[in-house]
Amino acid sequence: MNLREALWFLFLFFPALAGSSTVPRISVPQQDVSLTLFREEGIYNYTTFLLREDLGVLVLGARDAVYALDMNDISRKRAELPWSVAEDKRTLCSYKGKHFETECRNYIRVLQKADDDRMYVCGTNAFSPTCAYMTYSDGQLKLDEKRDAGKGKCPFDPFQSHSSIALDGDLYSTASLNFMGFDLALMRTPLRSLSIKPTLRTYESMSTLNEPIFVHMDAVRESEGSHEGGDDEVYMFFSETAVEYDFPDKLMVSRVARVCKEDLGGHRMLSKKWTTFLKARLDCPGPEPSLPYIVQNVFLLQHSDWRKSIFYAVFTPQGSSDLSAVCAYSVTDIGDVFSKGRYKTPVKDTSPVKWGTYHGEIPDPRPGACINKAARDQGIQSSMGLPDKTLQFVRDHPLMDEAVRPLSGGPQLVKRGPMFTRIVVDHVMALDGRGYDVMFIGTENGFVQKAVNYDGEMVIIEEVQLLPVPEPIKTLRLSRVTGQLYAGSETAAVQMALSECGRYSSCLDCVLARDPYCAWDATAALCTAVSSLDSTSDRNLIQSLRDADASMCPSLASVEPQSYTLIPGNNILLQCRADSNLAQVLWFFNGQTLNRSDTKYLFYSEGLMILEASEADSGQYSCKTEEWVKGTKHPRTVAVYQLQPGDGLLSQREAEQNRHNGVVRQKCSGLFLHLYYRELGVGCPCCVNRAALTTVAVVLNSQC
Ligand SMILES: *[C@@H]1O[C@H](CO)[C@@H](O)[C@H](O)[C@H]1NC(C)=O
Ligand SMILES: *[C@@H]1O[C@H](CO)[C@@H](O)[C@H](O)[C@H]1NC(C)=O
Repeated sequence: MNLREALWFLFLFFPALAGSSTVPRISVPQQDVSLTLFREEGIYNYTTFLLREDLGVLVLGARDAVYALDMNDISRKRAELPWSVAEDKRTLCSYKGKHFETECRNYIRVLQKADDDRMYVCGTNAFSPTCAYMTYSDGQLKLDEKRDAGKGKCPFDPFQSHSSIALDGDLYSTASLNFMGFDLALMRTPLRSLSIKPTLRTYESMSTLNEPIFVHMDAVRESEGSHEGGDDEVYMFFSETAVEYDFPDKLMVSRVARVCKEDLGGHRMLSKKWTTFLKARLDCPGPEPSLPYIVQNVFLLQHSDWRKSIFYAVFTPQGSSDLSAVCAYSVTDIGDVFSKGRYKTPVKDTSPVKWGTYHGEIPDPRPGACINKAARDQGIQSSMGLPDKTLQFVRDHPLMDEAVRPLSGGPQLVKRGPMFTRIVVDHVMALDGRGYDVMFIGTENGFVQKAVNYDGEMVIIEEVQLLPVPEPIKTLRLSRVTGQLYAGSETAAVQMALSECGRYSSCLDCVLARDPYCAWDATAALCTAVSSLDSTSDRNLIQSLRDADASMCPSLASVEPQSYTLIPGNNILLQCRADSNLAQVLWFFNGQTLNRSDTKYLFYSEGLMILEASEADSGQYSCKTEEWVKGTKHPRTVAVYQLQPGDGLLSQREAEQNRHNGVVRQKCSGLFLHLYYRELGVGCPCCVNRAALTTVAVVLNSQC
């Protein structure tokens, strides 16, 4: 496929984005998040997590240390295990040209559950990767005396990509096999002495892995309920330099590869090498014609029937675009590409070698297939018994012709702005009896976007500023047991609740939020978490996720006007804040709409300011919001103010009241306006440059 075809191809699958808003309905700043933070003095790189719901701890691997944190409150440290590198080893590392302070340290990169009692942990250990077993008991983390070489399990270089997973006593890992960072491989090494499987690695060839960047690994229990005697499989997601495009520059593509758990390697050919390694291109067509998007992170949403499990992946563009996307893939769709699709083959007479569709005869048993009942019926009990023809074919043709396409043909979500970095997904049962996949997406500036795709309509329920400083979210984990989300970055680990239904103060707000975790309890008159209710409860609950139908909500009580005395010459601040970023705010003066381009007024996110008010400005001001959801307008009066002319001399009570309500007194000279905010409390007036007034919302929260 050449570039033009590639662009057309991506363009043709342009998903219907019309009608979807990718503006988060609400934005929650950090100070409004009830979040729990863990950070230790002098410790960085809080990026390797292992959730141990069975032990009630989050095991956290950082630089030179491992911690066990209380899952309900990660600021509570249950245990710590310092694991740093001896000074002389660090010096040695720096002699080899590596940075003493940063690279020549022990970055924990692998943290896996080995068996019921033990965990397996690996660190970069000053460019000399090392692993060991670790236990957590009696409130202590203990590292086994015996150390294993970590080559192939953990990268040498802390900045290099890697991924790993433990499955039935073996560790599957992707990492470099040498100090230089070349020879990147997918390896399997036994974790327990009980495992009888040989150590395997990928065949060394550019057609196997071509400058890969490893992203994620997961296992799917495909042997369960399989009629064909299938095998469990390990899926691996990565990006690499493409071979299949006719493109002058280096072009990256996203890939999914898979191997079978019972692979034992070949007998003579492909001995100690995977015989089931197959890979395919992973497509996530963006809304605009572009170069292929690159996979950054993957989450497996597991279903009790593995056939219904779904991989969710976040993608970012290569080249200059600020669109990130989430695509979802069915496990069976991926499996079909490997088990039924055609293969690609190198086209020999070109230089550099290009890859095209293979049209020749395919050996039997099918190259790369797991050993199943049909193979066993042929007398092939394991991969060791595979004929050379099959092995040679899979060695030379690991790439499938067809690409894996996302569910519904396009992304679940696309959004402009800071790039997506990580994703986790929860499957939530709603009151309509249906399950919805709620995506939590971490971004490069420390936010989490909580989003749902309702039958093709992309809805971002909220964005929450999770990290205290704008830095990338490097790790995300979700626990249904605690109902918490855990995030890691280079400087801290944080925790937040999956839902905060209490943020929605009215029935309308609660219903329009369309949060599957929340419903309006009409009896108690509050927005409540659906999961906290027992199923027998006969409370009157209102939720309308797909339709956003708020007609069941009791009509809103009319808003009582608030009266103030107007002092001529003052700047008057009237507060009004919309519940939603999607709502439009309208101001009325004595029933007439105020014009946004009128320089007499300043319209901003927190309300309206009447600049240098005169007696003619006395009257009634009302603030209304209009939120459009699914083609329906939801109007609401938020505030009504009655301004009465005064004589300039306020009574003590009026002054108090005006002050309390943020009415501005006094004047500042020149370009400065004297502002007085109730947020700032009594005795904190300040002068603000008129030119800076568009950022009044910021001024409100800062010190005078
Ligand atoms: C570790 O964290 C520090 C501090 O934020 C950062 O500068 C550095 O790049 C991180 N190192 C790695 C290997 O990610
Ligand atoms: C608002 O004022 C501008 C300029 O003064 C004018 O062009 C516009 O038509 C006005 N809009 C409304 C809705 O009155």
